Amino acid sequence: MSDQHSHQSFETRAIHAGNTADPLTGAVVPPIYQVSTYKQDGVGGLRGGYEYSRSANPTRTALEENLAALEGGRRGLAFASGLAAEDCLLRTLLAPGDHVVIPNDAYGGTFRLFAKVVQRWGVDFSVANTSDVEAVRAAVNDRTKLIWVETPSNPLLGITDIEAIAGVARQAGVKLVVDNTFASPYLQQPLALGADVVVHSLTKYMGGHSDVVGGALVTADEALGEELAYHQNAMGAVAGPFDSWIVLRGIKTLAVRMDRHSENAEKIVEMLTQHPKVTQVLYPGLPEHPGHEIAAKQMRSFGGMISFRVEGGEEAAVEVCNRARLFTLGESLGGVESLIEHPGRMTHASVAGSALEVPADLVRLSVGIENVDDLLADLRQALG
Ligand SMILES: Cc1ncc(COP(=O)(O)O)c(C=O)c1O
Repeated sequence: MSDQHSHQSFETRAIHAGNTADPLTGAVVPPIYQVSTYKQDGVGGLRGGYEYSRSANPTRTALEENLAALEGGRRGLAFASGLAAEDCLLRTLLAPGDHVVIPNDAYGGTFRLFAKVVQRWGVDFSVANTSDVEAVRAAVNDRTKLIWVETPSNPLLGITDIEAIAGVARQAGVKLVVDNTFASPYLQQPLALGADVVVHSLTKYMGGHSDVVGGALVTADEALGEELAYHQNAMGAVAGPFDSWIVLRGIKTLAVRMDRHSENAEKIVEMLTQHPKVTQVLYPGLPEHPGHEIAAKQMRSFGGMISFRVEGGEEAAVEVCNRARLFTLGESLGGVESLIEHPGRMTHASVAGSALEVPADLVRLSVGIENVDDLLADLRQALG
């Protein structure tokens, strides 16, 4: 984060960091520099440092500066998707023979990346319950290079104590990576709690409108940021100018959206916990959630994601998803519109049969920012 923004509050940084007025016209919003290459004033004479848009593009730079400022990091990097960001990170930090510790609850695509792609290149992993600090410590061995944490986790809403795991990582001399997609930097700041790298699917709360796919890495450290920037260019899965612009636009309302997502979710949780067809509600805001106290310590509020289990098993859960009307049946999350899905058959189908398999009677909600009474009415009718 540049010194210019370090004293500003989150909401102000969300709107202003990286968003300097266009030097040519004064446009208050950074233009979409839809361009691949830049005219040089004589060989090597670059205007403003830009030479080719895979290496750097002014609209992407605006987003990357904004991301660093929001996470309180030194360097932000924007990618074509969350998984492209993860791939770049893993292939920068790891080499054949290395080992990583991954959570027993995580986005299915992240697990697939480890199990089906990275492992083939000679990197092995141990699956640990990252909510249990001692289980993580026990999973680290002398080949471990990084610990991966997702909190709150997808789809079981597990909570990991970032500060405690950062202590384990520091002691072992390994890096701590936190996927901050579910919380967003408005609700949770992993770098301030000791993480080395934050990962985002910008597709979710950061973009916030279900209209773009993107990913990001933010580093606490300049040197690691440089190394990742080198690999970002060398590997090439960068965010395009339009995608960067639309995420930057979404981020301006992140704080107000997240407040409403959390408020609506809390009211829906209240209804679900009293509903006779619901056997369990998974939400870190519930006092009985095993991670409640840690979530209350490290998050501003508990966010817009809820999972719950229904009486009657898999078919009943699928039926609830099929009956919803205002909640759109679909994958993804974090948009202004509410979504419902069945993780076992949809987002987490790729972890079936693994240590990350999810319960068959689970339904996941991404609570949007519509009027909560309309959302409650739809869920009541979907539950039957
Ligand atoms: C927590 C989490 N991390 C990473 C990803 C991957 O991001 P993307 O779909 O943008 O590649 C997702 C996608 O659902 C996610 O939910």
